[in-house]
Amino acid sequence: MRIRNTTQVWGSAAKSLHWLMALGIVGAMTLGLVMVNLPMSALKFELYAIHKSLGMTLLVLAALRISWRWMNPVPALPDSVPPHEQRLAGWAHRVFYVLLFAMPISGYVINSAANFPLNVFGVVQVPNLVPESERITDAATWVHGSLFWLFAGLIVVHVAGALRHHFIFKDGILRRMLPTRSSKET
Ligand code: HEM
Repeated sequence: MRIRNTTQVWGSAAKSLHWLMALGIVGAMTLGLVMVNLPMSALKFELYAIHKSLGMTLLVLAALRISWRWMNPVPALPDSVPPHEQRLAGWAHRVFYVLLFAMPISGYVINSAANFPLNVFGVVQVPNLVPESERITDAATWVHGSLFWLFAGLIVVHVAGALRHHFIFKDGILRRMLPTRSSKET
């Protein structure tokens, strides 16, 4: 399997980043929802630490992913997809990229403004981004929580769209993102 994309197929790097981040995002969302609803306990602190470390890792992966996208061709959608749907998919993907950065950055701002330490998986000490401020903590918490709903909604639409292409249109759009060798590869 080739590493780079072509105008027809996704390469292994783009596919790996896609599935690794999908897993990480669902994990960060689940942890986020569970940890905020737990009573004060050692487990709650532990889950916050994992959530923050995972979120910061996703921020780094988002930077890698967007750089890789700029350095590679993006496989075109098949002609069977009507132009308005192609434009819609393009916009949905742009919003995804904005969220891939806005979500972890707003979390990072909450943590910085609350003046909590941030040590990614106990290995990398990350400096605070903004000065301590209750107003900034509250605003960033609101942004982080609201973006979550937008992100979750978009993921549902994205998955439904992929399944619709796979099971109804049978046009290979989902298959070309799966970690299998494409028949179009040489
Ligand atoms: C893609 C990455 C991330 C996702 C998907 C995500 C998702 C979530 C979700 C779903 C919640 C619960 C929201 C609620 O119901 O109030 C949450 C809360 C929180 N997240 Fe994240 N998060 C991410 C990255 C980060 C990062 C990088 C940090 C910090 C460095 C962070 C810090 C926090 C904190 C402190 C809260 C609790 C806010 C409160 O106490 O209400 N998050 N996150």
